[in-house]
Amino acid sequence: KMATKDKVFVGSIDQGTTSSRFLIFDEQGVPVAIHQEEFSQIYPHPGWHEHDAEEIVRSVESCIEGGLKAFEKDGHSKDSIKAIGITNQRETTVVWDITTGKPIYNAIVWTDTRTSSLVRELKDRPNSDGLQEICGEAISTYPSVSKLLWLLKSQDKVREVYEAGNLAFGTIDAWLVWKLNGGPETNVFVTEPTNASRTMFMDIRTMKYSDKLLDFFSYEFDLRKIHMPQIVRSADTKAYGQLRSGPLAGFPITGCLGDQSAALVGQKGFEAGIAKNTYGTGCFLLLNTGTTPVISTHGLMTTVVYDFDGTPVYALEGSIAVAGSGVKFLMNNLGFSSQSHKITELAETVPDNGGLVFVTAFSGLFAPYWIDDAHGTMFGITHHTERGHIARATLEAVCFQTKAILDAMEKDSGQKLSELRVDGGMSNSDLCMQTQADLVGIPLMRPKMRETTALGAAIAAGFASGVWKNFDELKEVNVTGQTVFEPKMDAAASRKMFRRWEKAVMMCRGWLA
Ligand code: G3P
Repeated sequence: KMATKDKVFVGSIDQGTTSSRFLIFDEQGVPVAIHQEEFSQIYPHPGWHEHDAEEIVRSVESCIEGGLKAFEKDGHSKDSIKAIGITNQRETTVVWDITTGKPIYNAIVWTDTRTSSLVRELKDRPNSDGLQEICGEAISTYPSVSKLLWLLKSQDKVREVYEAGNLAFGTIDAWLVWKLNGGPETNVFVTEPTNASRTMFMDIRTMKYSDKLLDFFSYEFDLRKIHMPQIVRSADTKAYGQLRSGPLAGFPITGCLGDQSAALVGQKGFEAGIAKNTYGTGCFLLLNTGTTPVISTHGLMTTVVYDFDGTPVYALEGSIAVAGSGVKFLMNNLGFSSQSHKITELAETVPDNGGLVFVTAFSGLFAPYWIDDAHGTMFGITHHTERGHIARATLEAVCFQTKAILDAMEKDSGQKLSELRVDGGMSNSDLCMQTQADLVGIPLMRPKMRETTALGAAIAAGFASGVWKNFDELKEVNVTGQTVFEPKMDAAASRKMFRRWEKAVMMCRGWLA
């Protein structure tokens, strides 16, 4: 008689821009437990965006407790959890004292644009044009580097700790792994290529810190004096250590991926030519380009999707700063509603945008435009304009930018996409997804289980710990119940809508100049 195999599970920490979650997946990729908590968004000045790094750790710990409770309540035993993966908001910059474990400043979030004048100075330095070839991205307020330089330049306390030789820098993955391992006691200080490729410190071909990049940015402070996490593989049974406290103390962390890479993995975008678009706080379109990095000449970034076994896989990425955060803005700042699905309902009360275009450039405009002095601007307001139009224009802003990114991708990769996989909070909106399909002219595939980011981290951790051995074993994961959105709008009408958007983009620059 064949022995029945005991069911095994993988835990996944998903630390995003506006909330933290903990999910537990079974071997079929079904989330059997989930717990989510929001944490504070700190906006001290226009364009500034911070998080309390300690609160982030607390929210993760509390999600682990909550998720595990739900799991055990369902009759499962925690001993069946094989490993834990981590996925996280990228670029967000934490500095702390490596001896005490205390952050020295709030985390500066990826959306933050306080460094825009510093960015202009950096761009004017000799050889700044050559950096993208090494790290896959051009200088902007988005990567971690300018945030770290700003902290060194303007914060006495940061400089003091730097001078004492105790300054640690990390993105959220490194900070979390270090903290969850017990901080200074164990000093497990690691990152991996999908996160490190967003700092502007890593050579995307060698997966190591690049001397050229470090030299370029060390004109005022010696960045080699700062403790930076060691870059390890995205799946590794030893490098990430283990949880040291809480109900899962002793459980190993065996995988880690930046959230957008994780979403492509969770969508099983393992082959070149597969693309996904995740409508989260921001919106991020990644096209797998295989094992050779493609350097963009049309405003995209080159990023690492994963490095599981020493053969990294790359993607072209188009990043949009404002997606779900635009919907949140309507709810929190303008009082439109307290539930996000109501924004879609509001948008459905009008047949079209009524001539209104909303360039939601709250953090400047990211890909493919990179206009860092753009500000949020609404065009086409008349007596006819009502809240429904504003709701609709907010959703459409993401769809327009996605269209511009897809056009850039076609130019960079020389191939036309035949479909786009979608996920993330805003993909729940059928109206938004239909508009998207109409604008890009290709079908969108939306899976039923849309926790693809968390699933991606679970896959990384599950590969390392032997829950899954190869991509083939994931074939049946998350395949049922997908929704397809076919383009329906007449091509001329869709072109006309997009032309209006392009005009609006041209007009939203330099407001405060
Ligand atoms: O690059 C920023 C990105 O990683 C944040 O993702 O899901 O919080 O919008 P999300």
